Amino acid sequence: MNTIFVVSGGDAPGINALLANYAQIATLHGDTVCGANGGFPGLLHEQIQPLPFTMLSPWMGRGGSILPSSRDPVLSQAEAGELIRRILHDQHIDNMVLFGGNGTLRYIPPLLRAWEIPYIGIPTTIDNDVPGSERTLGFDSACNFAYQAIDGALATGHALNGRLFMVETLGGTCGNLALAVAQGAGAHAVIVPEFEYDENWLARRLKTAVERDGYGLLVICEGARGARTLADTLPALTGIRMRDTRLGHTQRGGTPSHSDRVLAAQMARLAHHHLKSNQSGILVVRNGELTLTAALSDTPVMPNRELYLQINGLNDEHTGN
Ligand code: F6P
Repeated sequence: MNTIFVVSGGDAPGINALLANYAQIATLHGDTVCGANGGFPGLLHEQIQPLPFTMLSPWMGRGGSILPSSRDPVLSQAEAGELIRRILHDQHIDNMVLFGGNGTLRYIPPLLRAWEIPYIGIPTTIDNDVPGSERTLGFDSACNFAYQAIDGALATGHALNGRLFMVETLGGTCGNLALAVAQGAGAHAVIVPEFEYDENWLARRLKTAVERDGYGLLVICEGARGARTLADTLPALTGIRMRDTRLGHTQRGGTPSHSDRVLAAQMARLAHHHLKSNQSGILVVRNGELTLTAALSDTPVMPNRELYLQINGLNDEHTGN
């Protein structure tokens, strides 16, 4: 069996670990692994390279992806399916492992099915926003990365009392990452794109935190209202100095955590097992277990509102609006 790996969309910590684990298992079974250089555009240009375990193993503990990705929607071209089928046939490639987030895994698996290309989809995104999967590869690492930054900022928060700190996470328009980080870091407030809030309420909440705890910590998702302005408006509303830290892509490229490395190893084993048994689908985490599903759930992912209210000291009657 010869498997091709394609990375589509944003990279995430754990991709390299999964690649290396898969290549190791494949070698033991007499199978081979290759990769498309540059996502689907790379595949369409036959940019394909062998991926032996000896080449991948030094990358196991690194973030990012040794295989370049792409966000270009090239599969909408009419002839893309025929071309990919021909390339896979000519290169003696039997099946595909596809890394991607919500967009990739919703859009591409139905095409692969229609083109009769066996595949396994792997939810890979730090955003943890793949519907029907409790967890995505890279999410835990991105949370851990944020804790290092927050702990660093709060070292000053404890030494020099009387300041506000705002830490902006990635996550796009999904607040799951910011919410998880806020919970793990003991933030006084969290702001996510999905839930509205009032700036005066937020200012009061953070001011009280400074008076009580010596510092105030706000975690905000990059896609939320105020991500670009609160660092100016909150000092004006509270009269307290505020420092902001924008994690940006440093958060996405962090070191894979222990639990992401374990998840990568489990996903690699199951992906190989399913492809060997001629089964296609997407590997999702359901009730804590990796499960093969034919398609992603249609229910959009929403951050846990109870947790949001709890972190912000709110309830259903007082929602911060
Ligand atoms: O979807 C993953 C993600 O890292 C988001 O958190 C972020 O908003 C986006 O990708 C950034 O995308 P790009 O790397 O294309 O700027």
